[in-house]
Amino acid sequence: MSANTDGLSPRAAVSQMATGYWISQAVRAMAILGLADHLASGPRTAADLAEETGAHAPSLARLLRTLVALGLCERDDAGGVYLTPLGEAMRSDVPDSARSFVLFITAPWVERGWEELPQAVRTGEPTFPRVHGVGFWDYLGVHPEEGALFDAAMSGGASARAEALRAARDLSSIGTVVDVGGGQGRLLATLLKAVPGLRGVLLDRPEVVAGAEVVLQAEGVADRCVVAEGDFFAAVPPGGDAYILAQIVHDWPDAEALAILSACRRAMAPAARLWVIEQVLPSTDGSDLHEKAGPTLLDLNMLVLFGGGQERTAEEYRRLLVAAGFGEIQVLPTDTLWSVVEAMAH
Ligand SMILES: C[S@@+](CC[C@H](N)C(=O)[O-])C[C@H]1O[C@@H](n2cnc3c(N)ncnc32)[C@H](O)[C@@H]1O
Repeated sequence: MSANTDGLSPRAAVSQMATGYWISQAVRAMAILGLADHLASGPRTAADLAEETGAHAPSLARLLRTLVALGLCERDDAGGVYLTPLGEAMRSDVPDSARSFVLFITAPWVERGWEELPQAVRTGEPTFPRVHGVGFWDYLGVHPEEGALFDAAMSGGASARAEALRAARDLSSIGTVVDVGGGQGRLLATLLKAVPGLRGVLLDRPEVVAGAEVVLQAEGVADRCVVAEGDFFAAVPPGGDAYILAQIVHDWPDAEALAILSACRRAMAPAARLWVIEQVLPSTDGSDLHEKAGPTLLDLNMLVLFGGGQERTAEEYRRLLVAAGFGEIQVLPTDTLWSVVEAMAH
C-alpha cells in the first residue's frame, strides 16, 4: 500500500495524505448505516435507501456519490447505485466481511489513541492506556461490546491468514495444530475445513473463546477441535505437531514476545514446529519502504495501542526465536500481506 501521489505537486500530495481520514470516515458511515446490507439484493436510489435507513436523502446522495468515487458502489442507468466487489466486502453476511474491521479500526475509542501519536513518539509509551486508564486487553475485558467488535474484526481477516499458511506449507501430514491466541477460532476452522483429518486446539482468553463454539459449529468442525481458555504467558496446551501464533508476537514488546515464544517451546515436543504469521517488515537495506507503507502504518498502530508492540523484520523475528531456543528458522513470504516464519522446537 502506498499513497498514489503521481503527478501531484508536493503540497497537493501532502494535503492528500492529511485528508486520508475523510476516506476512513466515509467508509465508516457506510458501515454504520448498513448500506451494503441494504444494497445486497440489488440497486437502490438514494431516496429508497434514505427511507430504509432513516437518513436525510440529499445528504445520503452525497455520501453515495463519494462511495461511487471511491469504487465501493457503481451507478446503473436507472439512477440507482449497486455494490462493486469492494462494496460487497462491506456486507455483514458475506464470508470474511470487512464491516467489523471497519467499525473497529475507525471507532472513536481506537482513534483517540491515534490522536496522541506525537506523544507516543516523544515518550515511547502507548497512548491507549493514557487515554483510557487501562491497557488494551483489560479495556476489552471490561467493555464486552468493544471486545466482541474486536473479536469479529479479527475473525474477518483470519481465514486469509489461514490461506497464507496453506500457501506456504502443506498441512496434510500434521495431526494436531494448536492455535495460540487464536481468537474465536476462525483461522483454525478454515484450516480444519480445508484439511480432512486435521485436529485443532484453540487457546485464548476466557471471554474470547466463549464465542468459539458457534464459529466451529457453523463450519462443521467442532468435533475435531478442543477449545481451551487460558493465558499464553502461563501455559500453552502440549501435544501439538504444529503451533500457530498469528498476529500475536506483534502485539508485544520483546520481553513479553520472548515469554510467549518460550511458553510455546516448553509445550512442544522436539519434532513440533511453530508457525508465526505476521506482516514482516522489509529490512531497511535497500528495500523500498514507500511501497511497504502498509506494514509501517500497522507498526504505528501497535505503538499507539500497545507501546512495545511492533512489526518486526525477518532478522528481528529470527533473533527472538533463537533466544527462545528454536532452530531451523525459515521466513516464507506468501502472495498475501502475511509471511509465515517457521521454526522447529528442537
Ligand atoms: C491480534 S489478535 C489475533 C487473533 C488471531 N490469532 C488472528 O490471527 O485473527 C490477538 C489475540 O491474542 C489474545 N490474547 C491476548 N492476551 C492473551 C493472553 N494473555 N492469553 C491468551 N490469549 C491472549 C487476544 O484475546 C486476541 O484474540
